[in-house]
Amino acid sequence: MSDLMIGTIQPRHERLWRAGQDGNWEFAAYELGNLRGAFGRLGRAHPTEHETSLPDMITSVTERPFNNLTDAIRSKDAAAFAKAYGELTDACNSCHQALNHGVVKIGRPDDKSQSDLALHKAP
Ligand code: HEC
Repeated sequence: MSDLMIGTIQPRHERLWRAGQDGNWEFAAYELGNLRGAFGRLGRAHPTEHETSLPDMITSVTERPFNNLTDAIRSKDAAAFAKAYGELTDACNSCHQALNHGVVKIGRPDDKSQSDLALHKAP
């Protein structure tokens, strides 16, 4: 699971933010599609986690932010994009907390670092 997070989820979450900052909506749409696909494969690779259905959990936390991101990208709306990206990041953290991995805190990449790991920030 952690390999898939690092290899398939995290880099796309980071690139998605960069694409939105650059106003590169075509690339943002591309990364969003790939991120959705990666979550789908994650759910198939790990059907259950702590006796909970992982695909159901993924859907319940990511569906709304994914739909809002799709709308924001389609309408090239930077403010709506930033808001929906925050919702997606909250979804990452809510699942980490629910599955006893709250120590993995995700934020949004800032100018100093491309990384989304919020290791040095206060919770
Ligand atoms: C459905 C639940 C779920 C969602 C949603 C989720 N994660 Fe995770 N993530 C996990 C679990 C569980 C682990 C711990 C895996 C382990 O260590 O075995 C984890 C671990 C991680 C790690 C640490 C990997 C390591 O080895 O250091 C990163 C980074 C990460 N997730 C990024 C993200 C990002 C970014 C998002 C949102 C775009 C996200 N995750 C959404 C369940 C989730």
